[in-house]
Amino acid sequence: MKAKNSKKTITDSTVDQDVLTYTVGEDTVLDMALIKWDCMGTAAHVTMLSEMKGLRKPIVTKAEAAKVRKELANVVAKAQKGDFVIREDDQDVHMAVERALTEKLGDLGKKIHTGRSRNDQVAVDVRLHMKSEILSLEKEICALVAALCKFGKKEGAIPLVGRTHLQPAMPSTVEMWATGHAEMILDQLENFEAAYRLADLNPLGSAAGYGVPLPLNRARTTALLGFARTIHNCFGASMARGECEAALLSALAQVMCVLSRLAQDMIIFSMPEFAYFRLPREYCTGSSIMPQKYNPDVLELVRGKTAQVVGWQTAALTLLHGMPGGYNRDLQDAKLLYMKGLETTRTTLRIMTKIVEGMKTDPDACRAAFTPGVFATDVALRKVAAGVPWRDAYHDVRDHLELLESEDCDAAVKAKTHEGTCLGVDGALYSARISAAKALASKRLAALEACCKKLLR
Ligand code: ARG
Repeated sequence: MKAKNSKKTITDSTVDQDVLTYTVGEDTVLDMALIKWDCMGTAAHVTMLSEMKGLRKPIVTKAEAAKVRKELANVVAKAQKGDFVIREDDQDVHMAVERALTEKLGDLGKKIHTGRSRNDQVAVDVRLHMKSEILSLEKEICALVAALCKFGKKEGAIPLVGRTHLQPAMPSTVEMWATGHAEMILDQLENFEAAYRLADLNPLGSAAGYGVPLPLNRARTTALLGFARTIHNCFGASMARGECEAALLSALAQVMCVLSRLAQDMIIFSMPEFAYFRLPREYCTGSSIMPQKYNPDVLELVRGKTAQVVGWQTAALTLLHGMPGGYNRDLQDAKLLYMKGLETTRTTLRIMTKIVEGMKTDPDACRAAFTPGVFATDVALRKVAAGVPWRDAYHDVRDHLELLESEDCDAAVKAKTHEGTCLGVDGALYSARISAAKALASKRLAALEACCKKLLR
């Protein structure tokens, strides 16, 4: 049946308009984020083609490759100015760039896709994009960690009731609370490192997943693009699409869960019933009916958005589990999922940093919360110091809870000095880790940008 409402694309003679719209999905918008990386990948591929030995006639000469690279740089510049559009009949960034190059360079533009497929092309784009995004996200993670450490340091040894089961438990400090959350967030960098390392592998040259009868030099594009190594097996390279998206989403979902717990603590401790912390007024929202309200909507949305990112991670894994080997179009949606995950996590990190920077402590409210029970363990340990076995000391205190008295919470906090407890929290340790993480991210970003600059000029 000949479709009445059909469109011509480069790859299909005609395709039904509804099929085009359905299959293109959000690619005309999402792929805008990939233009620079797509051009970089193509520049590396064409450079490699121009160096290919053992052919009767070069597919592209070195001079032609240079022309292509220059035009690719123009495309990137145009895109940065907002002058480049991916049309629906392009289908995606790959065809849009080929069209632009062909419009400018004629037959030479038609040669750039020799020995490639959009499958290895998009896989390369996504990995380069991910590398860059992970590195800049790591810097945002460091900014929030630094804000929490600064908050903790400023509030110094202000006593804070430590809680388990949300019930009053033991003497603690505001600094311990803040840097405890900071360390949890900082440790998330380990997951991002794993995601980064997976993204740092080159699938280019696998073409549609089975290679091509041309002497492609895959190690060369790996070096040109600055990847750690090549994904050796072409079929494996095609299947690796989606895996690094899922790994990144797992790191994103996990850091969001950590942020969500921090948000939850901030909501509770800024309630009037606790009032340990005061959230910056400009980060709270009012009510249309209750004039007295300053609500922590932002923090509630951090919880809400965590649910979304966890959902996108689940969607990515679900998308992968039933797919046969080789490229399948389902993979296109993995792009949408990780891009949404990145965007949401990035905005969440930013807003959390701002709120933490503006948060204040009420030392009186913090001290007033110390009920006699909070000192129970300390009392038992004093009995131990006098020679009573721990379990007997514990029962002595438990059997006479009515004898517990209010104590000096500042003194209680000062008595806790071993590693990682109230006065044993080493702020310098966090500063050193933050600096090292930022330096590594900057070094890697600079290396990536250097590859990009070399290829696109
Ligand atoms: N937009 C597509 C994607 O993200 C590009 C690859 C298309 N490949 C194909 N065989 N239809 O997956």
